[in-house]
Amino acid sequence: MKIAMVGSGYVGLVSGACFADFGHDVVCIDKDQSKIDRLHEGVMPIFEPGLAELVGKNVETGRLSFTTDLAEGIKDAQAIFIAVGTPSRRGDGHADLSFVYAVAEEVGASLANDAVIVTKSTVPVGTGDEVERILEASGTPHTFAVVSNPEFLREGAAIGDFKRPDRIVIGAETEFGREVMSEVYRPLFLNESPIMFTSRRSAELIKYAANAFLATKITFINEMADLCEKVGANVQDVSRGIGSDNRIGPKFLNAGPGYGGSCFPKDTLALLKTAEDYESPVRLVEAVVKTNDSRKRAMGRKVIDALGGPDAARGKKVALLGLTFKPNTDDMRDSPAIAVAQTLHDAGVSIEAFDPEGMEIAAPLMPEVTMMNDPYDAIKGADAVAIVTEWDAFRALDLKRVKELANAPVMIDLRNIYKPEDVRAAGFEYSSIGRS
Ligand code: UDX
Repeated sequence: MKIAMVGSGYVGLVSGACFADFGHDVVCIDKDQSKIDRLHEGVMPIFEPGLAELVGKNVETGRLSFTTDLAEGIKDAQAIFIAVGTPSRRGDGHADLSFVYAVAEEVGASLANDAVIVTKSTVPVGTGDEVERILEASGTPHTFAVVSNPEFLREGAAIGDFKRPDRIVIGAETEFGREVMSEVYRPLFLNESPIMFTSRRSAELIKYAANAFLATKITFINEMADLCEKVGANVQDVSRGIGSDNRIGPKFLNAGPGYGGSCFPKDTLALLKTAEDYESPVRLVEAVVKTNDSRKRAMGRKVIDALGGPDAARGKKVALLGLTFKPNTDDMRDSPAIAVAQTLHDAGVSIEAFDPEGMEIAAPLMPEVTMMNDPYDAIKGADAVAIVTEWDAFRALDLKRVKELANAPVMIDLRNIYKPEDVRAAGFEYSSIGRS
């Protein structure tokens, strides 16, 4: 079948490439001419493991192509996905739907056959109704259905997540919508990924509820970690202990510097706005958002404490290892490293940093930080080494060399990637999250 993917960002490009790999004929559309030009040359706009290979392979077979021409791209497509961004609107935290609605208008104006229009972008409850209204207002003579199909893929594991999802959620109001979507995902039924058909509004809410729940789980264990430090318990044991209860589950219980990224911060805020609009408060999520925000700066203060407190810290130098919000991505959006660096800078601490993929994007966001070519360059002369992102490259640092290069053997491990006894045995003052 022919699929059009409007928006060739993270979700659009990964979904488009995977659908092509399933055997569909896919056109990825984007307004950004330079992005499309680069895709034609095989240059990916984002860093995602395996994506360049997957795109290259499917372009070669002719199943995947790119264009800036929406009318041409959607011609003959039975499913037209909207996968454009829905950033937080400046000022009020509402999801900015202007890109989604602009695409709906354009699709309405150029629809040349019957088709299902699918919102894959994360959109608040009721957006599907508005997209449907826009298409109706366009006066198109063709039969269409508007379906919600939220995407749950994680950055860094996007292809695997897309191809082997825990579930596929389809929010459709008509048989036509359900039929076409069944065909779109038929290759995945063969993999036995469960598919759930729901109403469109339920599907829209599922996405926000899932992200808010995961953000809550992380925030819960982060606060438990703080308590562990006070009472002398070990948060990793607590995670394992509670996570082996099937009702809780072991995943997303790693304590750390607070969640970041392109989804959790924006989607929790947007959920709060929906709750406010409908006068149905979600107080738990309100607390999660606040707690996570303040945690990021608190992590900066943790580093300052390891330097001996604010007075001792002034004029000292910290090596920051890891800047991206998580490993295997170059994404800096809402990364805890930004708040950590700001807090250190405000306290008069100078910062040299290394990140395997994120430095180019990080540099303009963190003008107070000097980017280095190698972790050991950043460590040279540092009064403390702070691990902010758990890149594999930092899991096996040569501790002897670190000690020789650093000005003082102090390590703050905000991701718990080392065993305290190993680092202490190597002669370091070591602090981590929720462990003494
Ligand atoms: C998330 C959701 O997982 C995904 O389903 C949704 O489609 C988009 O948002 P992503 O933003 O790629 O995906 O990252 P994820 O791996 O979920 O991590 C989010 C944040 O939580 C990161 O900052 C990560 O470091 C943090 N995290 C995650 C923890 O601090 N502890 C954990 O146990 C898990």
